[in-house]
Order: sequence, then C-alpha cells, then structure tokens
Amino acid sequence: MNATNEKATLSFSDGTPAIELPIYKGVVGPDVIDIRKLYGQTGKFTYDPGFMSTASCNSKITYIDGDKGELLYRGYQIQDLATNCDFLESCYLLLKGELPNATQKKEFDDLVMHHTMVHEQMQFFLRGFRRDAHPVAVLTGLVGGMAAFYHDGLDINDAHQREVSQIRLIAKMPTLVAMAYKYSVGQPMIYPKNNLSYTANFMQMMFATPCEEYKVNEVLVRALDRIFILHADHEQNASTSTVRLAGSSGTNPFAAIAAGVACLWGPAHGGANEACLQMLEEIQANGGVEKIDDFIAKVKDKNSGVRLMGFGHRVYKNFDPRAKLMRETCYEVLKELGLENDPLFKLAMTLEKIALEDEYFVSRKLYPNVDFYSGIVQRALGIPTEMFTCIFALARTVGWISQWEEMITDSEYKIGRPRQLFVGSPTRTGTPGANITCGVPTGLVNPAASISVTSRETI
Ligand code: CMC
Repeated sequence: MNATNEKATLSFSDGTPAIELPIYKGVVGPDVIDIRKLYGQTGKFTYDPGFMSTASCNSKITYIDGDKGELLYRGYQIQDLATNCDFLESCYLLLKGELPNATQKKEFDDLVMHHTMVHEQMQFFLRGFRRDAHPVAVLTGLVGGMAAFYHDGLDINDAHQREVSQIRLIAKMPTLVAMAYKYSVGQPMIYPKNNLSYTANFMQMMFATPCEEYKVNEVLVRALDRIFILHADHEQNASTSTVRLAGSSGTNPFAAIAAGVACLWGPAHGGANEACLQMLEEIQANGGVEKIDDFIAKVKDKNSGVRLMGFGHRVYKNFDPRAKLMRETCYEVLKELGLENDPLFKLAMTLEKIALEDEYFVSRKLYPNVDFYSGIVQRALGIPTEMFTCIFALARTVGWISQWEEMITDSEYKIGRPRQLFVGSPTRTGTPGANITCGVPTGLVNPAASISVTSRETI
C-alpha cells in the first residue's frame, strides 16, 4: 500500500489523548485512514454497519467510480471487454491480471473446457433435493458439495491445488447450474460438449434434450456471454465480501464460494433481476403502462415497502455502465427473436423514462442498474425467472475466486473478525432456568430464553 506523509488526527472530548492515524493512497479512488491500531491505542472501535465508509481490504482486481459510472476489470473498461472479448478472456484477466495472448487463450480455453464434467455421483446427490426446491438452494448445496468430491484441491496453502480448484469451479459451474435446471423441470441431464464455446456449451446443457440436435444461435450465445462478462466481478459487494470472510477462516474454496452463492440469493443483490421481472409482470398484469404512475406512487410511499427493483445502487450514483450495455443487448436479442414488440420490454422502457424524470429518483441519484434489463434478456433466451440468480452465480464465480486468491496470497491476510457495539443486557443476576415451563430438560436449553411449548413441533 502507498503510505503518504499525510496523517489524520483523531481527538476525543472524553479526555482520551488524540492520536494520529496513517493515510494510504489508492491508485485511483478515495484515500483510506488506517485504523488498525485504534483499539489498541484508545480502547475504542469504529462503527460502520453496512460498510458505508470502510475499505475491508486492498485489491488490484476491480475498480468502480460510482460518480462517473465507470467499471474497470484490472484497468480495462467494462465497455471494451464486453465489446471485444469473450467471457473466458475476461476470466483469464480477472484471475491472472493480464489479458491472454493467442496461445494463452487457447491453453486456458482448453483447460476450462476439458474440466466441464462433474463427478457422476453428483447426480445422485442432486436427487436428494425436492424437485420443487428453488434452484439457488440446490446450487448452494451442489457447490458446497464439490468439497466432498474433489479432495485433491482443498489445501489452500498449495498454489497448484488452489489453481486446480479455481479451474474446476469455473469449468463445472455451468454444468451444475444446468443440472439444477434440468432436475427442476424433470428432464434428463445433458452432458457437456467440449468442442463448443463455454457459453454455447452452457446453452446446450440448458436447452438440448436427447431427442433432437441443439442448434447454437450465435447472437443469443453472444448475448449470454455478455451477461456473464458484465456480472463477472464487482469489487467488494456483499457476496464477494462473504466469500472473503468465509475464506478468511482457511476453509476450502468450494465452501467459501457456496457461501457467496447463498449471499447472492438476496433480493437486494443477485436476486434483484428475478424480483425486477416479477415487478414488471405484476404491473403488466394490473394494467401495464397505464398503471405505471400508480406503481411509482407506491414506491415513493415509505410505508408501502415497495421499491423500484433494478434501480439504485450503493456505489453507482450515476448510470450503471453495465445497464447501458444490457439495454443494447436487450434490443439485439429481441430483434433476433422477432420480439421487438415484447410488452414487458416496452413497459420497462416507459418505466425507466418516467423514473429518470421523477424528482424522487433524480434527487436520490437512483438510476437503472444492470438488473433492470438483464431479466428481460434472460427471459427472451428461455431462461426461467427462478434461474436468474444461478446465472449470476455462474458468472460471478470467477470474481469470487479471483478475490479469494488475492486474499489468500496477501501477506497481511488475517481471519475477518468484526467487533460490535453491544447494546444488550449487561451481566444479570438471578437463577437461570427458573422461568422455563415447557418440560425440556433445563440443562439442554438456553437459560436466557423463555421457551414456548410449540417450539418442539415446529423445529
Ligand atoms: N426504489 C425506491 N427507492 C429507493 C430505491 C429503489 N430501488 N433504492 C434506494 N431508494 C431510496 C431509499 O428509500 C432511500 O430513500 P431515503 O433517503 O428517502 O430514505 C434512498 O434511496 C437511499 O437508499 P438506501 O437503501 O439507503 O441505499 P443503499 O445504498 O443501501 O441500497 C440498493 C442500494 C441496491 C440495495 C437499493 O438501491 C435497492 O434496494 N435497489 C433495488 C434492488 C436492486 O435493484 N438491487 C440490485 C443492485 S445491482 C446488482 C448488484 O450489483 O448486486
């Protein structure tokens, strides 16, 4: 890290002596104040739930300028990568720091495409899930389950084993996602075809059946490949921070990535495009474009709990650059499929226009994010809504694993262990267990809880 001569002085009104804190400069972006010695020197913690002002690590991978609406992978603009590269080139870049030359690209593509099959027994593991389970629940289990099938890549202190696990994750994630999908619709699993491109292979595993030949449509493959590139990494977002935190305990990469998938599921993060499409479908069902004003009024009413999904971002306070590219892709896909008059697309464009001119959204700097249009594209490609987060997880796996590798190889890496501002009860007096009435043996229960009898039946 670049230390500067600048220091921050922190003074206190309670008599604690003032201290000086070092300041580090990023290559671009805000400086950071190093507070690591704060507790040791003052006995105080900082308080920043939601990490509004906290850099949790230093990183060389992805940079976002939220005010400019800029996203860089290893220094390259997302627009350039999405226009000129394929997904596996972006993976190489994120993992290794440089774009591959022609030989490196061929070797990397071959390596990934020859590790696409999963252990046959994973199919039996898959069958343990209910058919109506949400595919993200299934995927979380399958990814975590990889640790039980690929033991020879679990030593995180061995660089070769880490690399083997990274390639396995990137290569097998499409297979696992397609397996989760086929299982949910009761169709036979389709094995990978390694002579296809990464994304074409994924599409054939999703949409082929053993009964007929699957025809690859290059426009649609390119659209999905672009979705993968746009979702490949996004700095220290919630799921990436989850992967880093889980991985900081020294757990294996499959367990850490499974934690990332679980976190991604939430509607404020990877579940947003699913929620966005549901929102559009609901508006459409209730009267369509005519009802947009009513919907916007509901969004502005703080008591309604309704948000305009696909709008707003913690970091982008200007247009999300991914949203522009996604809108462009949306046009291309709908044109290719003859769906230019798709009512949901028209509804989305009208909703976007109205929101962008509305004082509520303008004053809060709420712009469309990548998820506003990605749901429409995926729906047009034939991907069911409940699979959207799985697609996001597939694409983000390379970002997660690159960030995990960066953390493991950082000489300053420590287990993540946040502290807290405790606002609960101080030490209490009294006899633990005296109030418990449900007949559960007192030695087995939390003495502070007053347990109701129903807890037994509902467990
Ligand atoms: N609709 C209506 N109001 C909103 C929205 C929205 N989508 N997003 C933020 N606001 C309002 C919010 O009510 C608050 O208003 P006020 O200042 O009057 O209380 C203000 O804007 C700031 O919101 P916040 O919740 O404090 O902002 P945040 O940075 O914590 O939340 C967000 C960011 C993405 C969770 C939020 O904008 C949101 O819930 N958006 C909808 C969900 C969504 O599209 N998520 C996908 C994010 S992009 C994919 C990814 O990178 O993971």
